[in-house]
Amino acid sequence: MTSSYGLEGRAAVVTGATRGIGRAVAERLAAAGALVCVTARDADEVRRTAAELGGIGVSGSVADPGHLRDVTDTALREFGRIDVVVNNAATNQPYGPLMDADPGAWREAFAVNVEAPLRLVQGAWHGWMREHGGSVVNICTEGAGHVGPNVGAYGTSKAALLHLTQQLAGELAPKVRVNSVSPGLVRTEMARFVWEAGEEQLAAGLPLGRIGEPADVARAVVWLASDAAEWITGADLLVDGGTRVRTAHSAREYAVHDRLRSYAPPRS
Ligand SMILES: NC(=O)c1ccc[n+]([C@@H]2O[C@H](COP(=O)([O-])OP(=O)(O)OC[C@H]3O[C@@H](n4cnc5c(N)ncnc54)[C@H](OP(=O)(O)O)[C@@H]3O)[C@@H](O)[C@H]2O)c1
Repeated sequence: MTSSYGLEGRAAVVTGATRGIGRAVAERLAAAGALVCVTARDADEVRRTAAELGGIGVSGSVADPGHLRDVTDTALREFGRIDVVVNNAATNQPYGPLMDADPGAWREAFAVNVEAPLRLVQGAWHGWMREHGGSVVNICTEGAGHVGPNVGAYGTSKAALLHLTQQLAGELAPKVRVNSVSPGLVRTEMARFVWEAGEEQLAAGLPLGRIGEPADVARAVVWLASDAAEWITGADLLVDGGTRVRTAHSAREYAVHDRLRSYAPPRS
């Protein structure tokens, strides 16, 4: 059963919502009675997802500021409000040692993972939230709390998003609450290269005994976005099956880092 948490009739924008965590978040928001606007680059997938959730969709890359303006304009035109923004779309590229990081791919990582969340919140703030209030949830990662092999661009940009979350929480209070959710390893396309081969070994090293499912993260996001969390801002909610506390649980090596170290991306 889904509690509506006061989300009935509210309007929410979820970026990167055609699959994985974003899709689960959008589904749960819709089930709680919210009007949802979903985004992603693949226009057919956006249309399909919007239709399945009874919401609307706007296709494009969050790296494009014009697309983000289109998202807020469309949501305001169709719903007349934007109460919730979930900044979920992200890239884990460029993958590899930082000394080999291509400058264009590095800029793209920051455009998608850091700048886009700021631009979208600016649009929602000026169009609705400054006057009426609202809440923002940024999807970070458990990995932003430490360093890891080959994920330097991803980790650095997500650590910046964590900082941005706290800065915005201070600047936009009391009208708008801004929080983040930091998932551990979750069964999605983005992380398939980590979990697909040898999931049992990964699960065995986690205190809660399994990798995450998109719904595990979605429940936390929707709760934080809702009035149930009305006195919470600037917080980061770890949803990681105990990844951070694993060293008190078992002496196993951290299998995620083994995967990241040994993974060789296909040449494009
Ligand atoms: N899965 C994990 O283990 C894990 C762990 C920690 C944090 N996270 C975070 O969770 C969030 C969701 O990841 P996920 O694992 O659910 O990924 P996913 O299954 O690959 O889904 C990504 C979604 O974002 C869209 N997207 C990708 N790039 C985009 C762009 N530039 N502009 C607009 N939409 C874009 C994708 O659709 P299109 O390809 O059509 O654009 C898709 O809808 C990300 O912020 C990720 O960093 C994931």
